Amino acid sequence: MTPTEAQHKIIALSTELEQHNYNYYVLDHPTISDYEFDKLLEELIALEKQFPEFLSENSPSQRVGGQITKNFQSVKHQYAMLSLSNSYNQEDLLDFDRRVKEGLGLDAVSSSEVKNDSKPQTSLFDAPFLDSARNDIKTKNEIEYVCELKFDGLSISLIYEDGQLKQAITRGDGVQGDDVTTNAKTIKSIPLKLKGHYPAKFEIRGEVFMPRPVFDAINKEREEIGDALMANPRNAASGSMKMQDSAQVAKRKLDCFLYYVLGDGLPHQSHFDNMHAAKTWGFKISEDAKLCSGINEVIDFINYWDKKRFDLPYDIDGIVIKVNNYNQQQNLGFTAKSPRWAIAYKFKAEQVSTELLSIVYQVGRTGAITPVANLQPVALGGTTVKRASLHNADIIEKLDVRVGDFVFVEKGGEIIPKIIGVDLTKRKPNTEPTQYITHCPECNTELKRDEGEANHYCPNENECPPQVIGKMDHFVSRKAMNIDSLGGETLVQLYNAGLVKNIADLYDLKKEQILPLERMAEKSANNLIEGLEASKQVSFERVLYAIGIRHVGETTAKKIAKKVKSLDVLIHSTKEELLAIDEVGEIIAISIADFFANQKNKDIILRLKQAGLQFELSEEQQQSGSDKLKDLTFVISGVFAKHSREHYKEMIELHGGKNSGSISKKTSFVLAGDNMGPEKLKKAESLGIKLINEDEFLEMLN
Ligand code: IVH
Repeated sequence: MTPTEAQHKIIALSTELEQHNYNYYVLDHPTISDYEFDKLLEELIALEKQFPEFLSENSPSQRVGGQITKNFQSVKHQYAMLSLSNSYNQEDLLDFDRRVKEGLGLDAVSSSEVKNDSKPQTSLFDAPFLDSARNDIKTKNEIEYVCELKFDGLSISLIYEDGQLKQAITRGDGVQGDDVTTNAKTIKSIPLKLKGHYPAKFEIRGEVFMPRPVFDAINKEREEIGDALMANPRNAASGSMKMQDSAQVAKRKLDCFLYYVLGDGLPHQSHFDNMHAAKTWGFKISEDAKLCSGINEVIDFINYWDKKRFDLPYDIDGIVIKVNNYNQQQNLGFTAKSPRWAIAYKFKAEQVSTELLSIVYQVGRTGAITPVANLQPVALGGTTVKRASLHNADIIEKLDVRVGDFVFVEKGGEIIPKIIGVDLTKRKPNTEPTQYITHCPECNTELKRDEGEANHYCPNENECPPQVIGKMDHFVSRKAMNIDSLGGETLVQLYNAGLVKNIADLYDLKKEQILPLERMAEKSANNLIEGLEASKQVSFERVLYAIGIRHVGETTAKKIAKKVKSLDVLIHSTKEELLAIDEVGEIIAISIADFFANQKNKDIILRLKQAGLQFELSEEQQQSGSDKLKDLTFVISGVFAKHSREHYKEMIELHGGKNSGSISKKTSFVLAGDNMGPEKLKKAESLGIKLINEDEFLEMLN
């Protein structure tokens, strides 16, 4: 290929890929399969490697990340990033509307003139606005407002020049923020190149956020491997944007809605129209924004979203109300802190007060202690609440919560309600401050708390019952040793009967020992023993995940296994060697070293080895790994003749592919055996996903 041909091809591929990105991440309407997309991207990356002179800084290849930012540059905003003043109830909103009208010299009807026989409402949530009262304030001079969702993430300012993303800056202190351009490029809904008729230079602001399902999935994985959980999607989003490695940011699957455009030469004289224009340039603009005539329609919008917000796949913490017309905005101007033409309405979390009956302390699989409040049952947000999290010792001390107190319980974005305060007017005499426990409620070991950590934990990891059972539960789980004949209840029975005290004991179990257990039939006992026997063939990488080294998740275990090839090598690896492995940072390296420094762990590993578990990569794995299935996602369904499903799964991973349990638009192929489920078949057909049989699959690898 000549350089000119390459240049043309690179431009064509980039344009095509950006369009597909837009279809997928902005319109939510993909027009090619992930497989085809990845092929195009691969082609682009290969060409850019061969002809680096044509690699542009906004190529779609930059979205995968990889660049490291050691220190984010602090840059001054061209236009200060102001915040909004807040409103919390009907009164505040009517005041805002009155101020706007007064500011514009319009004939306002003040809220005090509104005929309203009922008591003043203090919160939208406490009681709906009264239509009768609101009808009275309909006047001829209604202001046109735009109502938007108030996305709960971190605000970002994007600068475009000649249709190219030049810079992405965080809010910072409003005057100066951090240049996070490299990280912003990994957010697929942020266009790197614009379409249509855009101004030569402009700035557009919006909110970077983490969708709920992404947040839940990351936390689930963290919980599995004993990592600290992320508090909420907002913190997760802002934490992610500040990560130094943009490849890690790319994995956080952040998203971004835009809601404010600034600059000379904007096509329209109103906010709403310009946002529509921005949509045609390629930005992700919320479909839920609404043009409202007058404050009454604003209030209807707020009432609607107060209930509906829980159905959104991302968090919002209120509604933003903006005067639509730019002339009016200009006339109103700004205060030192915020525009006079806009206001935020903050949703109120539902709150109730109830009695705290007792505090119990739960011990998790990783030994973390969670204090839980038992409450006098009370209705809140459509469910009866009996328990609430008290988080940790500091929070109990800060709130000075005591048993017998009446506490305020709130249900925010979190599923588990939380205690946010004590009703001191109802405090009974002679109550004592809560003394946090000093010893484990399960095994009586003295609790520890690490420097800088919020939670206490029980260090007796190999003997404390919930920790031991939790470890075994993890060991037998599907992604680990996959012994499905050995469920959680059976493990508890085995533990209580004194038959197993650690994962190695499982392999000493005899059928005669388990038969006497309650509800244990001959067949289940056989299955259990067979399941254990079969698990001896489970690959090294999964064994490494199963033994439960803190912070070593499924992906990390795979990376380590691939690199070290055997447990012996891992045990003798230095910290530097560990740190050189992809995905392994300081915390994981220390955790691995600590694990193998513990004699009890060493004994368990030795026994597992003697039992015949795989502690090194198989010959096949060592020799035949490849990237042939890189970036492909397979769903395996049905029964196969040549190899087992498990074997196919491993082959897919061995060759760089991914396995998934359910068919979606992300699926590249369905590897279909006999008797594939009719539902799966229908879904694959409706999404146009290709089915292949085992011969075709094996062919792909040759
Ligand atoms: S407009 C000058 N619109 O809320 C007006 N802000 O306290 C600029 N936010 O810092 C802001 N959704 O991070 C605007 N639809 C929306 C918003 C929104 C969320 C955030 C933004 C801002 C804060 C205001």
